[in-house]
Amino acid sequence: MSNLSVDHLLGIKYLNSKDLKLIFETANHFKEVINRKIKKVPSLRDVTIANLFFENSTRTKISFELAQKRLSADVINFSSSASSVSKGETLIDTVNNILSMKVDMVVIRHPSPGASVFLSNNVNSCIINAGDGTHEHPTQALLDAYSVKEKIGDLKNKKILIVGDILHSRVALSNIYAYQKLGANVTVCGPKSLIPKYIESLNVKVETDLLKALKWCDAVNMLRIQNERMSESYFPSIREYVQQFGLNKQIVDSLNKEIIIMHPGPINRGVEITSEVADSDQAIILDQVENGVAIRMAVMYLLASKLY
Ligand code: CP
Repeated sequence: MSNLSVDHLLGIKYLNSKDLKLIFETANHFKEVINRKIKKVPSLRDVTIANLFFENSTRTKISFELAQKRLSADVINFSSSASSVSKGETLIDTVNNILSMKVDMVVIRHPSPGASVFLSNNVNSCIINAGDGTHEHPTQALLDAYSVKEKIGDLKNKKILIVGDILHSRVALSNIYAYQKLGANVTVCGPKSLIPKYIESLNVKVETDLLKALKWCDAVNMLRIQNERMSESYFPSIREYVQQFGLNKQIVDSLNKEIIIMHPGPINRGVEITSEVADSDQAIILDQVENGVAIRMAVMYLLASKLY
């Protein structure tokens, strides 16, 4: 069997296009499994996985846990608010204590960019990044690209648009790496204040006219404004943001073509996207969530095969 080129999943940046292909092929198999009446396989029996969430999560946390249970892994869940981190314990000490109980793999979400890379350099375990600050959210990008591919096939030369708060979004950076490694062209759109200066060095185009950008694309990923990562105001008011960068039915209808509409969640309905669009047939938001379980099963299965 072919294998991943990496021992951890720290970011899409560290994967190659063969890795992406292998993850997608493996996810195809697991998607078929989780749609059976009996959804569980013994693939990770005797593997113990710790889910360490130092930041809130609904989709990613449940999706990883469900994926682990479908693979028959033993699962422990850690949340920082109920742990000894509040008593001053370091991240390395916390993880090493958990690992000493014979844990094989660590899934970590952390508010600090680089937390998963830091851990992989300092503890002896397989590390999976479930989102680290404004840096990367690799399994989100994998499930996003897998979901678009499912709808429109090979992504080579396809046009992908990412709209919103690019500056504070880990989804944006992981998406850019993933789509480019799959041969797609990427444009970002949003207020100039929310587009990082380095973005053009990644071979990404910048557009501030939403309608023009939408007319160009095959698929759009609408991102939330990450208020929790902002210490100052980046645009005059939410009302003006919605007027310029919110996706509504009138705009979608004016395109005279079908585009795929994505959102990683959580959605702020009526801000970056209206309910009418989020709940429309063109939106694949719940397909993304469904595919997340198969993608995470594939990632953990492939990494577990490198453990021993
Ligand atoms: N998409 C995403 O990461 O959602 P959660 O923050 O709910 O996990």
